[in-house]
Amino acid sequence: MEIASIGIVGAGQMGNGIAHVCALAGYDVTLTDVSKDALDAALDLIGQNLDRQVQRDRIDAAARDAALARIATTLTLTDLGACDLVIEAATERETIKQAIFEDLVPHLKPETILTSNTSSISITRLASRTDRPEKFMGFHFMNPVPVMQLVELIRGIATDDETYAACQAVVERLGKTAATAEDFPAFMVNRILMPMINEAVYTLYEGVGTVTSIDTSMKLGANHPMGPLELADFIGLDTCLAIMNVLHDGLADTKYRPCPLLVKYVEAGWLGRKSLRGFYDYR
Ligand code: CAA
Repeated sequence: MEIASIGIVGAGQMGNGIAHVCALAGYDVTLTDVSKDALDAALDLIGQNLDRQVQRDRIDAAARDAALARIATTLTLTDLGACDLVIEAATERETIKQAIFEDLVPHLKPETILTSNTSSISITRLASRTDRPEKFMGFHFMNPVPVMQLVELIRGIATDDETYAACQAVVERLGKTAATAEDFPAFMVNRILMPMINEAVYTLYEGVGTVTSIDTSMKLGANHPMGPLELADFIGLDTCLAIMNVLHDGLADTKYRPCPLLVKYVEAGWLGRKSLRGFYDYR
């Protein structure tokens, strides 16, 4: 199936990055969110990030302008009904995602492929709440989307080959590389990454190191571009906690127990960069 138009649900840090790369690759994009402010902020950020790519000679000004012209925004979820592919990138909470699919599904064309950018939730379970489990997949981008090369593709138990092939073709057209994961809690990237971040929080909690010494250790000692605590702030501590909870609940192993300090930060509303306070202070 040929994909020409892509609908994106959620204009947060993942949704706006996904809109950016899809528009740049020539897809017609419709971006929706419940908040007009979020849509305006997303368009602003996409413009800034495209400008940055122009300044660094990654793209030319004509490509930037064409990409911006391909992005439509709407507050009405059902405006995505005519899209060939929908990528849901709302908050990482299963009830929110399910409510979106329930509202959206009656308005979709029968052939529309429905996907979720979830970083951890069962694709099979999300798919089972829709009318098209065979046309449902996990389509998981990494942050920052315009920079990171990987897309994790996750097949639910019922996903058909045609749907998988169509999604793989989209990844290729975006100039990214797909890695296919089986549908188990947190798939591959976050199954490996989040326990490392959680262990870094334990290392801080137990007083083994400070925020900066832990991050310096992993940057200079393991060549990571960001230290684990800086990366946790970048991803969002609420998202990190949500993923640890999915691993803990889904795999029933105490090795995935979220660090109490991570829980406390989230309870305090210290969510990382987005709330201007996490392991670092951005105020
Ligand atoms: N849009 C467009 N371009 C961007 C960008 C954005 N949002 N952010 C950075 N860039 C570009 C810069 O323009 C620069 O481009 P050039 O190579 O053309 O010069 C390049 O990316 C590097 O950026 P900077 O020089 O500003 O900064 P940096 O070298 O410190 O890199 C970083 C920044 C790319 C974020 C790097 O620190 C990094 O790779 N960090 C790790 C990120 C990571 O691990 N992400 C995965 C998180 S896990 C996840 O996303 C899954 C999940 O479900 C939670």
